[in-house]
Amino acid sequence: MATASEIAAVGVIGAGQMGSGIAQLAAAAGCAVLLLDADPTALSRAVASISASLLRLAAKGQLSQAAYEDSIKRIRCVSTVQDLRDADLVIEAIVENEDVKKKLFVELDKITKSSAILASNTSSISITRLASSTKRPSQVIGMHFFNPPPIMKLIEIIRGADTTDEVFAAVKSFSERLGKSVICSQDYPGFIVNRILMPMINEAFWALYTGVATKEHIDTGMKLGTNHPMGPLQLADFIGLDVCLSVLRVLHSGLGDNKYSPCPLLVQYVDAGRLGKKRGLGVYSYGQKSSSVKP
Ligand code: 3HC
Repeated sequence: MATASEIAAVGVIGAGQMGSGIAQLAAAAGCAVLLLDADPTALSRAVASISASLLRLAAKGQLSQAAYEDSIKRIRCVSTVQDLRDADLVIEAIVENEDVKKKLFVELDKITKSSAILASNTSSISITRLASSTKRPSQVIGMHFFNPPPIMKLIEIIRGADTTDEVFAAVKSFSERLGKSVICSQDYPGFIVNRILMPMINEAFWALYTGVATKEHIDTGMKLGTNHPMGPLQLADFIGLDVCLSVLRVLHSGLGDNKYSPCPLLVQYVDAGRLGKKRGLGVYSYGQKSSSVKP
């Protein structure tokens, strides 16, 4: 099993916002990165966004021109899981669907070298259950990044029931190599951050749904009243309303308490395809026509 300093090649699966941010961090930390996505358009979008993000850091003097160029060169876009056979660590950041993730872990288990660590960036799905789909549950772990990964200072590490101390130690020091602070959570629904954050977002939806206040007043209240960088409804759009709903459903079914039951307005927005900023429309509109869903 690779120690943190031996993690030289990192596979990142999923070239969305999270996957591209994770790939950027690993490349900037000196790793050879294999960024995997079956969709070539997603890969080109990811490379463009990594380049723009690194340039923002370079413009602030946090990165030299040479480090920018080296980081970009370290990222190789690939399209099949077979391309990850030499990775020391694989981090998946694909869709939040347990069956889809399990299928991927089965494949990764077959293809990657026996010493490789398999990590999931899941927001709330059980690491123990993902691990149990492999023959190496002791080498499976949760590495939960926050959006946008290059800026947010935290990685939440989740130990599955069988994750060994060695794997935890390797992933913890690797996370610190990426420049992040680490917290450790046991494997319970929503872990630490989403267990606390998602009920707050859900409550903001209830406040909007029941007419307590307008979306602007709810968000301004939480921004100025509690010093959050974004109000909860704006943050929900930023995270993706589908992701928020999926985490709330995991909390609701896993913890069995009605206080986690998703607000009908959130469910309706997701049903209507109002998934947030990534779709141009969520609670707020981002340059697209509003749909008929009220309010
Ligand atoms: N790459 C590089 N730099 C970036 C960047 C990126 N992807 N995104 C933002 N920045 C930099 C900007 O250049 C800017 O730098 P400067 O202050 O030195 O000029 C700084 O970050 C602030 O960015 P902006 O001026 O564009 O915008 P804001 O001041 O509104 O900040 C934000 C944007 C950092 C996203 C801030 O609004 C914020 O912190 N929001 C809350 C984010 C949050 O809570 N994320 C966690 C969500 S929960 C999650 O992800 C878990 C999941 O499981 C649900």
